[in-house]
Formats: sequence, structure tokens, C-alpha cells
Amino acid sequence: MTHQEIRDRARSIIGDKCKVCPDCNGLACRGQVPGVGGKGLGNSFVRNRAMVLERKLHLDTLVPAEEIDTSLHLFGKAFKYPIFAAPIGALELNYHPSLNDLTYNERIVQGCVDAGIMAFTGDGAKMEYYEGPLKIIKAHEGLGIPTIKPWDNETVIKKIRMAEDHGVTALSMDVDAAGLILLAMAGTPVYTKPVTELKEITDSTDLPLILKGIMTPAGALKAYEAGAAGIVVSNHGGRVMDDALSTIEMLPEIAEAVGGRMTIFIDGGFRSGEDVLKALALGADGVLIGRPFAVAAYGGGAEGVRQYAEKIGQELKEAMIMTGCHTLKDATGKCW
Ligand SMILES: Cc1cc2nc3c(=O)[nH]c(=O)nc-3n(C[C@H](O)[C@H](O)[C@H](O)COP(=O)(O)O)c2cc1C
Repeated sequence: MTHQEIRDRARSIIGDKCKVCPDCNGLACRGQVPGVGGKGLGNSFVRNRAMVLERKLHLDTLVPAEEIDTSLHLFGKAFKYPIFAAPIGALELNYHPSLNDLTYNERIVQGCVDAGIMAFTGDGAKMEYYEGPLKIIKAHEGLGIPTIKPWDNETVIKKIRMAEDHGVTALSMDVDAAGLILLAMAGTPVYTKPVTELKEITDSTDLPLILKGIMTPAGALKAYEAGAAGIVVSNHGGRVMDDALSTIEMLPEIAEAVGGRMTIFIDGGFRSGEDVLKALALGADGVLIGRPFAVAAYGGGAEGVRQYAEKIGQELKEAMIMTGCHTLKDATGKCW
């Protein structure tokens, strides 16, 4: 299966919702939620992508020709690339019923493990959306990070116990899901969380907790105060607020506030290895990619996911050569 064949196959399956555009930039799917777009006019999704494209790398090849090391060591594990699949939920509704939250995550977790990286999995109104992926992570030596919605603390801590029982590598919570009215309508409300409540959550477990959906230095400092091990600079791919700033715009300030003290991930509009290097240059430790992984899973299953991850990883390696980087740390500052 070539990359093009995977994309063509995906388009034939999910084409009603996702056009599998040459550049996944939020234009063709503006406002399509449910669907794959951004909320409202889709401005946040479009801005995420546009601002990643606006950043430019420093070309510099006048360095010794040493081995290029793309690996990242995190939470006691080694990963081939600093790339992660972002959690994607409600597949049947947003993409196509040929995959559900269980079968999608089977493909994503397996494909990522095969590529030497790791996936974040999701959560939802039904327990099976959370529990199914946990079983898959367990079957892959705990290589996966479940993302728990910001339910009431009792429910969150119950779900953390389940994750511990399944041997996961770390935990995540998409705190930016707090405004998702659909969950409240389904009888499973989500909430905003003050530091005191977050602290109760981090105190309840020895697993590292990553707060996904941090968009300000003040928010990052609160996450740190609450005992989180990491954050994802994210606006949920533009699906929770129409006029948010883009994630890459906020990254340098956030890295200035908490860099070196917490692991900083970012997502929103990253589509190539060069894009990944831009994020590393501006202060991120790792990059999550969302929608393109879903295209790979629909079009090529676990093998499509593996191939896509490897493609982005190879592009990252090439970008490192072109910017004079030998390790990921060398990327610091190499982006306008
Ligand atoms: C259809 C769809 C469903 C998503 N579901 C979830 C989810 O259940 N939990 C979550 O934390 N993020 C969810 N996200 C957000 C992604 O994890 C991620 O933040 C975003 O897609 C990254 O942007 P990108 O798609 O531009 O790479 C979803 C995104 C999409 C497009």
C-alpha cells in the first residue's frame, strides 16, 4: 500500500465527512462538528494550521556529519520519534461507522507501537469508549495513554484505577472538553477544574498526569502547581472554541513558563516532519497529530498508521539534517 493508495481508500470510505485534502487545514470542513472540522466558523482549526505554516526553519548544514538521533525518552520508555497519535473519539459519528472507538483504537495503538511511537486514546459518554482502548493498551505492554474527560472527580479517580489496572504508561485529561454540552445532554456532564480538584486527582495516583488543552502560561503554571507531569498545548483541534489563538503561537510563552519542569506536548495543524521540528524548536518535547492519523487508520488499518508515522519520522530526520541537528535538543531556537 502506498501513501496515496491509503489516502484514496480513506476518501472512498470517509469522503462524506472528510475530503482527505492534500493539506489538512480546516478549510473544506469548516464548522463541521459533528464531523472533522472546527467549531463554529472553524477559525481555530484554520488558524492552527496557518500559523504552523507561517513559522520557518533555519537551514544550516555546516555541521559535522554525525548520526541523527530522533529518539525521545519519556516516562521510563524510549520512543523512535517525538510523535504521538492524538486521541480521537466518536468515530462512527465524526468519520464513518466502519470503525468505532474500539476498532479504531486497535488500529491506532497497534500501528503506533509498530512504528516505535505511542498513541493517546479517548473517553466518552459510554464506558466502552474508555474501557475498550484500555484493554488494547494492556495487550501492547501498556504502550498508550488514555485521555479521561473532566468528569466529576469521583468518576475520574475511578477511571484512573481502571487505567492503573491495565498498566498504562501515563494518563491524560482533556481539560478543554469542559464546555462540551453534548456530554451533559447525554447525562454525563463534564466540568472546569480548579487547582484544588486537579491536585486531588494527581495525589490519587503514581502515574504521570498530562493535562491536554492548556493554552496560556497561567494555565501551564496552574497545571504545574497541581502536580501534573506534562501538558498538551492544545485547543482540541479547534473543536471547542471558534476564536482561540493557535497552539504554535502560544507555545514559546508557555515553554518559557514551565519548560524544563514539565513535559510539553503540542497539537493542532502539525502535518509534516518539518512541522514537528518547528514545535521542538519553539519549546515542545513532543507533538501529537490528530486527523491525519484517522485518515491513515481508515485507509490502511494498523499498517497505514505505521506507515504514516514512519513517513513523518523520516521527514523529521531529513529536517534535522537540513537544520544541523543531531539530537532533538539541538532543535532549540532553530525556527522563526
Ligand atoms: C473527530 C475528532 C474527535 C476528537 N476527539 C477527541 C477526544 O475524544 N478527546 C480528546 O482529547 N481530543 C479529541 N480530539 C482532538 C484531538 O485529540 C487533537 O487535539 C486535535 O485533533 C489535534 O489537531 P489536528 O487534528 O489538527 O492534528 C478530536 C479531534 C477530532 C478531529
